Amino acid sequence: MKVLLIGSGGREHAMAWKLAQSPKITKLLIAPGNAGTAEVGTNVNIGVDDHAGIIEFANKENVDLVVVAPDQPIVDGLCDQLRSAGITTFGPSAAAARIEGSKIWADDLMTKYSIPTAQSVAFSDSGLAMEYGRSKPAGSLVVKADGLAAGKGVILPETNDDLDTAIIGMLDHAAFGESSSSILLAERMTGPEASVFAFVDGEHVSAEIATCDYKRIGEGDVGLNTGGMGAYGPPEFWNAELAARVRSEILEPIAKALVAENSSFSGVIYAGLMITEFGPKIVEFNCRFGDPETQILMPMLESDLLDICHAVAENRLSEEGVVWSTEPHTFVVAVSGGYPGSYPTGFEISGIENASEHGVVFHAGTKTDENGALLTSGGRVLGVSSSGDTIKDARTSAYAGIENISFEGMQYRRDIAERAVQD
Ligand code: AMP
Ligand code: GLY
Repeated sequence: MKVLLIGSGGREHAMAWKLAQSPKITKLLIAPGNAGTAEVGTNVNIGVDDHAGIIEFANKENVDLVVVAPDQPIVDGLCDQLRSAGITTFGPSAAAARIEGSKIWADDLMTKYSIPTAQSVAFSDSGLAMEYGRSKPAGSLVVKADGLAAGKGVILPETNDDLDTAIIGMLDHAAFGESSSSILLAERMTGPEASVFAFVDGEHVSAEIATCDYKRIGEGDVGLNTGGMGAYGPPEFWNAELAARVRSEILEPIAKALVAENSSFSGVIYAGLMITEFGPKIVEFNCRFGDPETQILMPMLESDLLDICHAVAENRLSEEGVVWSTEPHTFVVAVSGGYPGSYPTGFEISGIENASEHGVVFHAGTKTDENGALLTSGGRVLGVSSSGDTIKDARTSAYAGIENISFEGMQYRRDIAERAVQD
């Protein structure tokens, strides 16, 4: 099969790495890809927002399957457009992707179908929002932009003044453009967080897998939010009972709810959960694989990703076994100095070969120059994904790998998976 994968991050390198292992693949194309995807397939210079270009290319190349990985093109309807052009596609419709594209729509859906989540109220008027805010104890609400905001659309204010600032920033000063023209004020929940993934095709939900990601730049979860600094799995607090609850209270009901709302889901659902004292509750749904979670999910997936994506695209996921390894995995990301603020790029990266002895190196913001040298080209540059008999072993290997890599200004968190290690 000839497959076209859409995207250019670390998630896409991990998916390309896994797709390339399928005995059924004849050609793997990645648009636009990065220096890592170029090692397992052929990069095509088409941007993820160039929907017409992607469709024209897929037709011209007689691609058998397109796999759309990032949120923005999915929410913008790329999967619908590909299917309308007669191209077999893995990824949800824009209607189903509203579970990620509109937090207000997702919240209404969860309320209607009794899927556990934070109690939330929607606002588009800042005065009314601030009035509601003052009726609640300081620090008890979170502010969420309705639409996509590159992972930065949630603010957790500690004081009423900070809450007002966040509300005014989003509603009156368009902090996230159109995406923050409406907001949710949500009850602030507490508890450990997990990212749970399952392939979904209509009402059919595959076996699920749980991981944890790290969003903040600083060790001990301080500082600004990033695209993600690392991940590990399975979580130390995960068990069969919790998994069964998440399936029966969250994953199966959301799949059924989407079918009932004429927005049947086809792709992978990402349930961002908080395990509260009242049980697992949804923080957010996403309509795609997570980054950096995918950099451990692909090594944990024992089944053939190509077979699964093809089955989902043809609405026959129920015939496909999806098997996840329970072996511990850790992924550590190296980022450019200055990230998530502004940062310089174009620095040469060394040590990949030695790092590869300790795990799989997945690229994100990398490129090769005309002489074949590997250079940094983004905030999150690359990471090392390792497994082990214990989470401690997996963690030791991932760090042994990352310590071999160097580029000017390189930074990484030293506490990924630390809390999961029991001495
Ligand atoms: P999101 O972009 O929705 O994943 O939110 C980013 C982060 O904000 C989450 O990973 C949580 O740590 C936090 N967060 C979001 N919503 C809530 C909530 N209702 N209560 C507590 N923390 C939240
Ligand atoms: N890991 C967070 C995300 O992919 O949205």
